[in-house]
Amino acid sequence: MIPRYIVDFDLETLPKLHTDVIVIGGGIAGLFTAIKASERNRVLMITKKSLFESNTRYAQGGIAAVFSEEDSPEFHLQDTLIAGAGLCDEAAVQILVHEGPQGVQELIRLGTQFDEEEDGQYALTREGAHSQRRILHANGDATGFEIVRALAAKVQANPSIEVWDDHFVLDLLTEDGECRGAIVQKPDGTRVGVFGKAVVLCTGGTGQLYRYTTNPDVATGDGIAMAYRAGAVIRDMEFIQFHPTSLCYPGAPRFLISEAVRGEGAYLRNIRGERFMDKYHPQLELAPRDVVARAIVEEMEQTKSTYVYIDITHQDPELVRHRFPTIHQYCLKYGLDLTTDWIPVAPAAHYTMGGVRTGLQGETSIGRLYACGEVSSTGVHGANRLASNSLSEAIVFGRRIVESINQLEPVRTPMALRYQEDRQSHPPGPVVERRLKLQKTMVRWVGLRRNRQGLERALDEMKRHLPIYRARLSTQEELEFANLLTCAALAAESALSREESRGAHYREDYPERDDDRWLKHTIIERENGLGEERLPCSSGKAIG
Ligand code: SIN
Repeated sequence: MIPRYIVDFDLETLPKLHTDVIVIGGGIAGLFTAIKASERNRVLMITKKSLFESNTRYAQGGIAAVFSEEDSPEFHLQDTLIAGAGLCDEAAVQILVHEGPQGVQELIRLGTQFDEEEDGQYALTREGAHSQRRILHANGDATGFEIVRALAAKVQANPSIEVWDDHFVLDLLTEDGECRGAIVQKPDGTRVGVFGKAVVLCTGGTGQLYRYTTNPDVATGDGIAMAYRAGAVIRDMEFIQFHPTSLCYPGAPRFLISEAVRGEGAYLRNIRGERFMDKYHPQLELAPRDVVARAIVEEMEQTKSTYVYIDITHQDPELVRHRFPTIHQYCLKYGLDLTTDWIPVAPAAHYTMGGVRTGLQGETSIGRLYACGEVSSTGVHGANRLASNSLSEAIVFGRRIVESINQLEPVRTPMALRYQEDRQSHPPGPVVERRLKLQKTMVRWVGLRRNRQGLERALDEMKRHLPIYRARLSTQEELEFANLLTCAALAAESALSREESRGAHYREDYPERDDDRWLKHTIIERENGLGEERLPCSSGKAIG
């Protein structure tokens, strides 16, 4: 069994810091929540790298919110429910579609500059499975970067927010079913206990579980693993979204080629040059992501290739350069010109739909512990996230979390805890190799297509790494590997239990969706193991 705490410690002997609200992680969820919380609280924000390194920073396509006359929250709701393949919590989606536009206005007030048309209206694009143009973007395809720029500037100028960069949060400290703080490792390896009336996890997803991912190195599932060790309910970990189009070119990282490129009319072609999406879905290149990703893999197999092409060469080159400056420049580094060349692409792990289960105020199953953004499972995304819904989700639920925290009384009794597993050994073997091995296992057996045999094999392979939890871990690589291993096991166990195909979870041995048996969530708790959870009444309709 995975131990409650990943390191041994004695709080008595550690330096302590007391604040009001502890926000763990940067990205849009951390930055926005910290800014809102700072209106009435002292905030400590902890990032393991910096405010500028998160999944948000690399978000290209944009942020989905109803801004045009032709659109309505009802359309946005329906699109989200359909993409979510029956597993969205409709109440959470209602909140998203109604509160999203106001949240975007707040981002604008905080300094984010979204692209505008010549008439001064916000420029809106479409992405897969959206029935309307409702994606706001910034600097063409650098939306996340612009949001981080604006919010980080506010955070850095805010005297109520203290930022600790390069600090690694080891574990959440809990007592009597409540979260009291966290134990944190400083850059010099020493440790400190931090305490507050609430802790908000904003630690992002698990992209680094896979060898091929659009996520940066920091996406190692730390928040999900920590919350699991602390006893929180973790939900729907089998639903991992693969982005259909990441650059697949020798020597190049799996850079995201935004869905907005297809939104602006790009075609997908196999290596024979044939368009193929008409064989798979009536929405063609703008079908839901899981459909497009599996169609691409199918074509790759049929043509014995490791990629397909995305082709936007038929569009006006000036428009392409203006709309996608980041992608255009990035591809040029590798000798590929988006305006004249077909760009080789393949699917890559992109987004963790599941995570720490939260209610409508972002509260987890542990008192005083909240989760916001990709680390959370709010019920908005269901089995397959609608593109560009995640940035809106972070601001909508970030605001709700702060409303809830503002009602909390501070905790007055000090916490004393000594945790000893008598860990003696150092981790066996180089952890870099282990991480690579785990990533390969995940790609091979817990990837876009799964089956019982493969999932069982993956779990067996993971078991071989278990002694790591009995070792004395100290480096960031070791700690991250331990967290990744936990998330890998949660994903594989959940995927094995769900004997159907739905959204991003495709089982070759159960290729059909089975609403009679599986219109429900999978949950995992450290104490109780794997279980199932019925959908809230509002979500009972089998939409999607
Ligand atoms: C993209 O630009 O394609 C990514 C947008 C998202 O994942 O929401």
